[in-house]
Amino acid sequence: MSETLVVVGSQWGDEGKGKITDYFATRADMVVRYQGGNNAGHTVVFGGNKYSLQSIPSGIFNPKTVNIMGNGMVVNPVSVCAELDKLHDRGITDYQLYISTRAAMVMPWHPMLDGAYEAKKGADLIGTTKKGIGPAYSDKYSRTGIRMGDLLEPEYFRSRLEAALEVKNLELEMYGLPTLNVDEVYDQYMELAKRLGPMITDTSRMINDALRTPDKRVLFEGAQGMMLCIEHGTYPFVTSSSPSAASVPVGAGIAPKWVRNAIGVAKAYCTRVGSGPFPTELHNQIGDDIRERGHEYGTVTGRPRRIGWFDAVVARYTAELGGLTHWAVMLLDVLSGLDTIKICTHYELDGQMIQSPPSTIASLERCKPVYIEMPGWKEDITGITEFEDLPENAKAYVRKLEELTGVPVGMISVGPDRQQTIIVDKELNKF
Ligand code: GDP
Ligand code: IMO
Ligand code: MG
Repeated sequence: MSETLVVVGSQWGDEGKGKITDYFATRADMVVRYQGGNNAGHTVVFGGNKYSLQSIPSGIFNPKTVNIMGNGMVVNPVSVCAELDKLHDRGITDYQLYISTRAAMVMPWHPMLDGAYEAKKGADLIGTTKKGIGPAYSDKYSRTGIRMGDLLEPEYFRSRLEAALEVKNLELEMYGLPTLNVDEVYDQYMELAKRLGPMITDTSRMINDALRTPDKRVLFEGAQGMMLCIEHGTYPFVTSSSPSAASVPVGAGIAPKWVRNAIGVAKAYCTRVGSGPFPTELHNQIGDDIRERGHEYGTVTGRPRRIGWFDAVVARYTAELGGLTHWAVMLLDVLSGLDTIKICTHYELDGQMIQSPPSTIASLERCKPVYIEMPGWKEDITGITEFEDLPENAKAYVRKLEELTGVPVGMISVGPDRQQTIIVDKELNKF
């Protein structure tokens, strides 16, 4: 039987999925992205080098690992080429990368309209990454989208482009934006096709072949986080895809039976970029200190991230939705030095104690976090490699997260580097 593992963001994104994917990718046969696009910013640090990936899977540093951008993604070919250039500049030239023929393609009007929609919303803006993710997924679902495989069929591509631009130019005009010329976009995309064409293929076929091969290890790399899920997140302050492990079968083109283990990546506290409810948000010096110690500024947009205490209400919810088998608790080192650390165990909503997030945004906005307070630790933990060697209070904090969420902590991260990783459940070494 092949082994599979899903790495899934379990808060509001930026939990450290890039680091965890890279950790397992060193021994994976395949790494698959199944949703999202270049709104993601996944950081990978090893050998004294730091890399930031957006659309390209975090297994790209391992020449033997097949990296797949699955059908559930929205792919911006301009951005993929720029990412490849950046990797090449840093000596990463020996890799295997494939892109699904079925993946939706981000077209030049998508980021333009993303920006226009946000501007129109004024103070109610979502705070998107302005990469055109929402508009590209909208076109996919309204069946007017253009797919990566269309680049391989120039005549068909041109007909789709002509039909799309007829409508999109009207919309661009409406927003006072410059219109786009069919020939120019066609020429630009045919140029991109020369480079990316050899990578565009039926990736679902490749993944299924790998899954049928005994002892193959296939890793699925989520983007964003489950609280940004279009279905189950804090709608409308969400992204336009579903980051959950439940999306893997659809976004990779495989049967659900292959999804057995999902590692929920969660910071030892919480962060969020962009607008929307965030019950445990800190508006004080502690929040500012955590932001600085954790370098909590967006990988893609450079925006300061909002900071809050660990929210066990959110964690229980995402654990349930994601079918999480383990937690990877990230950035535990950032909490070193605090006298006490709070954990939100419940919310109070209109005088009632509740265990899971309410399903409407208005009620979530009214929720007040209820906290327990744990003693902190002062020691630098960034060099620790065994759970037993952590300070007693750090161990107690981690055990409390397990108790409150009902999901075991499989691993702990104590620094950005690949090696700053503590494996708590040795079973994970099997992957
Ligand atoms: P992703 O989008 O989930 O892959 O996460 P990001 O890369 O956007 O953000 C996580 C940030 O935390 C990156 O800058 C990582 O290098 C960094 N990081 C990851 N794990 C740790 C850790 O355990 N400690 C510290 N201090 N930084 C970490
Ligand atoms: P990774 O994979 C954190 C947020 C944006 C915004 C909302 C919608 O690095 O964890 P979008 O551009 O997707 O339409 O923006 O979602 N967002 C992320 N926040 N990490 C991400 O990705 C994100 N991708 C989107 O800030 O609030
Ligand atoms: Mg990120």
